[in-house]
Amino acid sequence: MMGPFWSVRRTVAMEAAVLLGVAILVGTAWASGAKAIDQKAAAEAQRMFTTTCATCHGTDGEGDGPASFGLATPPQDYSDKEWQKTVTNREIMEAILFGGAPVGLSPDMRANPVLKNKPEVLAALAQMVRSFAGVPEDPVKLLKVAEEVVKETKPHKNMSKQRRAKK
Ligand code: HEC
Repeated sequence: MMGPFWSVRRTVAMEAAVLLGVAILVGTAWASGAKAIDQKAAAEAQRMFTTTCATCHGTDGEGDGPASFGLATPPQDYSDKEWQKTVTNREIMEAILFGGAPVGLSPDMRANPVLKNKPEVLAALAQMVRSFAGVPEDPVKLLKVAEEVVKETKPHKNMSKQRRAKK
């Protein structure tokens, strides 16, 4: 048997309140750009690293993959903590997306245009690059930068090499 009219009303009101609450939460997360790198993107980055990047940068990110030997400029050793300090997340992502030549680095570091509409995978790759040196990164911030980088028509000049040269 149904309850009195007011109790049905109350249930509907409560449901509406819950729905509104959810909408506000989702809306706030969306407005602040607080998206995280999802599991699917992280897995795709992992696969891409193993099949592509590791051939030069090595499975441990130390720059000693099988295709690294004989290159004029050695692939970056990600475990190098000094290098990690000189390079920004934007520079890492621009080098990955646009390749070495347009950012003033070795053309042996090739472009990865496949990432143009995959900011999450680009962010996950940058996170991997950082993690090889144990540098903690906020995935939300990484994704924000990645979303800007994929919209660029051309990259900024990479400063990390110049800063390294000054040392
Ligand atoms: C054919 C070899 C090769 C492959 C494959 C390759 N790289 Fe590189 N990468 C290089 C070389 C060489 C450099 C060094 C460029 C320099 O210092 O002039 C480099 C540099 C970098 C840098 C440093 C950029 C900087 O600002 O110093 C990052 C980050 C990077 N690679 C990420 C990646 C990722 C991620 C992948 C896979 C999607 C990848 N690379 C695939 C050869 C490669």
